[in-house]
Amino acid sequence: MLMHFTPISSILEGKETGKQVLIRGWVYRKRSSGGMHFVVIRDSSGVIQCAVKKDAVSEKAFGDAEKTFIESSITCAGTVSEDKRAPGGFEIKATDFSLVYLGEPFPIAKDQSVEFLLDTRHLWLRSQRLTNIMKARDYLTRYLREFLFSNDFWELSPPIITRAGCEGGSTLFNVDYFGEQAYLTQSGQLYNEAFITSHEKVFILAPSFRAEPSRTVRHLCEYWHLEPEMAWVDNEGNMKVQEEMISYVCQKLAKERADLLKSLGRNPDDLLAVKPPFPRMSYLDACDKLEGMGLKMERGKDFGADEEAALTKGLKTPLFVHHYPKGAKAFYMREDPEQKGYVLCADLLAPEGHGEVIGGSERIWDLSELQKRMKEEKLEEKDYQWYVDLRRYGSVPHSGFGLGIERLVKWTLNLDHIRDAIPFPRVLNRVYP
Ligand code: 4AD
Ligand code: MG
Repeated sequence: MLMHFTPISSILEGKETGKQVLIRGWVYRKRSSGGMHFVVIRDSSGVIQCAVKKDAVSEKAFGDAEKTFIESSITCAGTVSEDKRAPGGFEIKATDFSLVYLGEPFPIAKDQSVEFLLDTRHLWLRSQRLTNIMKARDYLTRYLREFLFSNDFWELSPPIITRAGCEGGSTLFNVDYFGEQAYLTQSGQLYNEAFITSHEKVFILAPSFRAEPSRTVRHLCEYWHLEPEMAWVDNEGNMKVQEEMISYVCQKLAKERADLLKSLGRNPDDLLAVKPPFPRMSYLDACDKLEGMGLKMERGKDFGADEEAALTKGLKTPLFVHHYPKGAKAFYMREDPEQKGYVLCADLLAPEGHGEVIGGSERIWDLSELQKRMKEEKLEEKDYQWYVDLRRYGSVPHSGFGLGIERLVKWTLNLDHIRDAIPFPRVLNRVYP
């Protein structure tokens, strides 16, 4: 008996035609007629049809094929032939078929409600669509790391339980830390700023938490956050790294994973068009543009989904909006000495209405400037003492940014909702499964 299991993808690539193979996997679909069972099998690499014919296999093998239903686990041996009518263009003519585990009838059938599919997410993850989305997500994170490592960044790990917020108090999750008030981190940035004095160019890829009280298509309560931070880099240099990084991963995904993109309905050409430099627009110019489009803009406020969609309409690449008003952004952003009231920051807005994928800025690196800003924001210096300390010893100009992995997945795959960009989404009122 063959003990080497062939991945289904190898058959679909035409490498096994005419050969005897042994595969293992799960029943994806089954149809029977007369003395034949057509069992479509999936493994992690693809799906293929196995034709199990009564007089071509043992009685036991035919009985096993008879018994199986959707999601039963099986092994199947047979000869590969090309068959235009079969899904994927190949078929295995079975010489043996064996049931590993029958299981119970699978609860997910066609046309289930969104809520039901979220309740059964642990099973729905086996669908071809979610399987392919998670593969694309994996490729994206590999390419991001690849870009950063090849540009001499170090990957470090921040704490997840913290004493103070980074992005304002309204979205903090409380943690009772042996009686002490603590929080789940909103961002590892403040810790990244400690890392740069030893490692200069660092990044972290870790979960961030936001107690988002609203239901939107782009907010999660737990998301994966890629945060690079660089010593000796200003806001302009920060934007350059971002556009190069984003272009690198888009190009690579489009060139190396075109079939995966197509299977998810994304035209790879859309991502091939993502090349540096990205257009840049100041916050004030953006406000003027929005008003020209008939949208009412209150100067001083951050943009919402509608404004971001309007600003990127018709664009093929993302857009940087820089120099937001100080009051609309976080306390650590450095005010532009040449434009008082506005900070050296930029949000990167993805095209096609996907909105903000990156928030970045130059950080305040002067001690008294930081202390003054924290007073204005009424932040307790004692909670941030260590962070303030970083400005006492060897402070240097520095910048960094945060990229929401699920936002990137949503945009690059053109998904309707961010919940499908992560295996087990944590959204308003959902922490199960
Ligand atoms: O703009 P944000 O809040 O910036 C920070 O947290 C900075 N400390 C990052 C840094 O400079 N190191 O978040 C950064 C990015 C956003 O642009 C967005 O992509 C993502 O994190 N993000 C979310 N993604 C999903 N769900 C949410 N609720 C998100 N909130 C932010
Ligand atoms: Mg932001």
